[in-house]
Amino acid sequence: MDSADFDALEVAARAKLPEGAYVFAAAGAADEITTQDNIDAWRRLRLRPRVLHDVTQVDTGVSLLGTKVAMPILVAPSGRHRLFHPEGEAATARGAAMAGAVYTLATSSTVSIEEVAAQRGAAPQWFQLYMPPDRSVTEGLLDRLAAAGFGAVVFTVDQPVYGSSPRSVRTPVIPNPDIRHMNLPGQPMARVAYDPVHNGVVNFPTALADLEWLVKRAPFDVIVKGVLRGDDARRCVDAGAKAIIVSNHGGRHLDAAIATADALPDVVAALSGQAEVYVDGGIRRGTDIVKALALGARAVLIGRPVLWGLATGGAEGVQGVLDHLQTELVRSMQLCGVASLAELTPDLIASRR
Ligand SMILES: Cc1cc2nc3c(=O)[nH]c(=O)nc-3n(C[C@H](O)[C@H](O)[C@H](O)COP(=O)(O)O)c2cc1C
Repeated sequence: MDSADFDALEVAARAKLPEGAYVFAAAGAADEITTQDNIDAWRRLRLRPRVLHDVTQVDTGVSLLGTKVAMPILVAPSGRHRLFHPEGEAATARGAAMAGAVYTLATSSTVSIEEVAAQRGAAPQWFQLYMPPDRSVTEGLLDRLAAAGFGAVVFTVDQPVYGSSPRSVRTPVIPNPDIRHMNLPGQPMARVAYDPVHNGVVNFPTALADLEWLVKRAPFDVIVKGVLRGDDARRCVDAGAKAIIVSNHGGRHLDAAIATADALPDVVAALSGQAEVYVDGGIRRGTDIVKALALGARAVLIGRPVLWGLATGGAEGVQGVLDHLQTELVRSMQLCGVASLAELTPDLIASRR
């Protein structure tokens, strides 16, 4: 990747993609307030670096649910990658493996679970689950995931209905019979979340009892994604979740939802170390990652920039995005006087007036 920031990469991706595919990935819901605020909220925070510490050797290793990985930077789940590259999720998974990052495969993948598993490197792969009302569909997925060696399931709970994006409705993705949801029964043609065909349909009528069922049924740990409140995080952990992802889905469904940088401290405080906390939304710089970890996140997930890397360079493009963030993370840690992730503590963040 030859760009110094992801804005240039996004421009290059846009030039390569059909406009509808670009808009589908870039857009947020409604007025895109939250999508933009996610980025701005990290940028508003200021660092209080430490000086006179030995930072010649920096360790970014972290254990996630008991598995050691090289970096606290994960690929966020997003579906329909064959809209962005002919190899789709197989390329994304391979790029993540080359970088040593955890890859989270989405339910709405356009490549099969088994083909993605074949791309796995040293880091584990996780699977993002939307739970349809028919539990036998989820059971079938869980069995396939276990057989394919997936390490955890990420249960997304912030999207009972799809949001609406005027920008995406104006510039739609036209469904393509060759691009299908490969892991759903009947492998239906892939429709994007912002397709007006979804209007008014409650797609995932999940409740706390569904989480309790999933925790019992899943042969691996359950992570809940899409939590913005401490009280909800507590309910999820009491129901058996082992980790929480503070996320507003990149601002793609409820516009005007709180930015994730602003929501994170409440969730961290509510759990007081009883479960791992990860965060996504608007993370674009190594300094953003330092801020997230200082505020108590154990790792971050990256959404759109990974898709720009995929669109411009396939697996190598994805690796480039992750390597770039990792390089920036190490540099930012060194400039903050920090040599390990455990030293990233809240006092590094200047208090806001
Ligand atoms: C094109 C696209 C598709 C997405 N699909 C899913 C999905 O299927 N499941 C899910 O939990 N999150 C999905 N997300 C949300 C991401 O996992 C993540 O929360 C968000 O993109 C992070 O914000 P960022 O893009 O600003 O980094 C999607 C995001 C994008 C951009």
